[in-house]
Amino acid sequence: MTGATPFERLGGEGGVRALVDRFYDLMGLEPAYAGLRALHPQALEGSRDKLFWFLCGWLGGPNHYIDRFGHPMLRARHLPYAIGIAERDQWMSCMKQALAEQGVEAALAQRLEEALAGTADWMRNKPEIAKKPV
Ligand code: HEM
Repeated sequence: MTGATPFERLGGEGGVRALVDRFYDLMGLEPAYAGLRALHPQALEGSRDKLFWFLCGWLGGPNHYIDRFGHPMLRARHLPYAIGIAERDQWMSCMKQALAEQGVEAALAQRLEEALAGTADWMRNKPEIAKKPV
């Protein structure tokens, strides 16, 4: 698989769609993600499509999101939602669980988690008292 993009290693559009679907299913199912779920609209179809389109391009596949909406400007698009440390951590835990349950190979999952953690942290927009690093 040398030279394969993360998109290809995840199984292309089918694999990315399955990951996103599991991510949003877990968000609705797991009490630990209830706060994250509450930020989202009641019907998740639009959210599922947007994250799927975005991740396809972000993982090195087709740019479905940019083709539809232009530059992602993810931080600006998240400003209507109050995102702090708790919301960031729930998003990351939910995504890590989805990656594990989809059977994504450990090395790839770890690489994606590290990259997504930076993006998730960048989405924080709620003033909070800084916590001492552990
Ligand atoms: C850090 C915690 C995060 C929270 C609490 C959060 C929450 C949300 C919410 C509530 C929406 C609106 C859903 C909708 O319009 O249906 C949204 C949209 C979106 N999120 Fe997040 N998100 C987070 C992190 C991320 C990360 C890390 C990514 C990408 C890797 C991401 C990608 C997206 C995309 C692509 C959209 C659609 C934007 C649009 O076109 O309006 N989010 N997010």
